[in-house]
Amino acid sequence: MSDIIILSVPVFSTLSNAAFALRKEVFVWEQKVPEEEELDSYDLTAIHYVAVAEGNVVATLRLITQPEHMKIGRVAVHQAWRGKGVARKLIERAMADARAKGQERFYLTAQSDKLGLYEKLGFVAFGPEFMDGGMPHRAMRDYDKASATLID
Ligand SMILES: CC(C)(COP(=O)(O)OP(=O)(O)OC[C@H]1O[C@@H](n2cnc3c(N)ncnc32)[C@H](O)[C@@H]1OP(=O)(O)O)[C@@H](O)C(=O)NCCC(=O)NCCS
Repeated sequence: MSDIIILSVPVFSTLSNAAFALRKEVFVWEQKVPEEEELDSYDLTAIHYVAVAEGNVVATLRLITQPEHMKIGRVAVHQAWRGKGVARKLIERAMADARAKGQERFYLTAQSDKLGLYEKLGFVAFGPEFMDGGMPHRAMRDYDKASATLID
C-alpha cells in the first residue's frame, strides 16, 4: 500500500472540508443517510482525523469527548481505498493519541454489518439493535467487556 499519512485536523480547514465531502459521498450518496443528519453540531467541537494518500483525503473519523468515554464516529473510507487496512490504521492512531492524553474508555455505534471490524479492534457490542440514519446499529465499547456481553 502506498504511504498513508494520518493527521488530526481543525474544523473548517481545507483537510476537514475534504473529509466532510468524503463523508457526504459515503454516508449520504452511498448509504442514503438523510443529508440533514450527516453534519451536526458535534462537528464543531469534535477532533477530526483524516488519512491522506496520493494527495487526497481517503478516510476520516471524528472523536467526541463525552463524560463517560471517548466516542468514535463517522468512520468513512473512500471506496477505492477499502480493504487495505486504512480504517484500522486510522482508528488505532486516533485511539493511541487519545490514550496518550489519558483516555482509557472508547465507545461507538456501529452499523450492524460492521461489528467484525470493531471487534478486531477490541470492541464488544452491547444492548439492543436500534435504527440510526435508516440502518440497524449496535452500541459497542472497549471497556467493561464482561458486563457488556451480559446486557444482551
Ligand atoms: C467500514 C469501512 C470503514 C472499513 O474500512 P476499511 O479501510 O476497508 O477497513 P480495514 O481494511 O481497515 O479493515 C480492518 C479489518 O476489519 C475487517 N473488516 C472491514 N470491514 C468489515 C466488515 N464490514 N465486517 C467485518 N469485518 C470487516 C477487515 O477484514 C480487516 O480485518 P483484518 O485486519 O483481519 O484483515 C469502509 O468499508 C467504509 O467506509 N464503509 C462505508 C462507511 C461505513 O460503513 N462506515 C462505518 C460505519 S459503522
